[in-house]
Amino acid sequence: MDDLSLLIDLHIHGQRQGPGSDACTKKAIQLAGLNPEQPLRIADLGSGTGASAMVLAEALSAQVIAVDFVQPFLDTLTSRAGERGVADQIETICCSIDELPFEEHSLDVIWSEGAIYNIGFEHGARIWKRYLKPGGTLVTSEITWLTSERPTELNEHWCTEYPEIGLASEKLAVLEQLGYEPVAFFVLPEECWIDHYYKPMQDRFAAYLERNNQSDDARAIIAAEQLEIDLYQKYRSFFSYGMYIARVPARD
Ligand SMILES: C[S@@+](CC[C@H](N)C(=O)[O-])C[C@H]1O[C@@H](n2cnc3c(N)ncnc32)[C@H](O)[C@@H]1O
Repeated sequence: MDDLSLLIDLHIHGQRQGPGSDACTKKAIQLAGLNPEQPLRIADLGSGTGASAMVLAEALSAQVIAVDFVQPFLDTLTSRAGERGVADQIETICCSIDELPFEEHSLDVIWSEGAIYNIGFEHGARIWKRYLKPGGTLVTSEITWLTSERPTELNEHWCTEYPEIGLASEKLAVLEQLGYEPVAFFVLPEECWIDHYYKPMQDRFAAYLERNNQSDDARAIIAAEQLEIDLYQKYRSFFSYGMYIARVPARD
């Protein structure tokens, strides 16, 4: 198995593929002021196996288009949508989130949890804006420093992994410079990392290694995940994910 297939194999069995929770998705829906009665067209970009897509479909009168470039994640999402009784509200598109097939001004909401970093926060917020209707809303979570100073070990790790990591004030400034009106921001609490992401993943490590014959490549993937978990445990007061909610002005 190549590295991508190994990563998919580790993550496809998780309810989510990054930090987050149903409660935080619901909180963001509320802070965004989305009307449960209003028919909405929402794209969930980098949907993974659909944790947020399910909540959006259940909480809103929404048609949700889940986009991811990993087809097996989308297949799992479709099967889970059937189990949760929301299959008729969710469609999937397998493509890259920086080459979207949408018409300009065709979406009420762009939702993206833990995925915008793959194309960069500034780039993603810039290129996605054109798909939103005037008055449309962007909701996206992004790794964020919680303090203006932090330990060198942590700083070096994340600045190497993701040089665009920054303070919330810097991310909000990016959104403003791109012409969005910031609506709300909150920090994802610890349970989004531990209870809903890291712990369930750690519980899958043994079966995953077994399935992959304890191969060196599979072990390397587990070691990288464990390093990230250890860094989070050690330095969690210095960083988290932030949930950013911003609107395209109605006059656009
Ligand atoms: C950290 S996971 C988050 C998944 C999901 N939103 C969640 O919160 O559980 C990032 C997702 O983005 C997808 N992804 C990464 N880069 C992508 C790209 N360029 N185009 C489409 N999907 C991408 C991955 O396949 C993965 O499902």
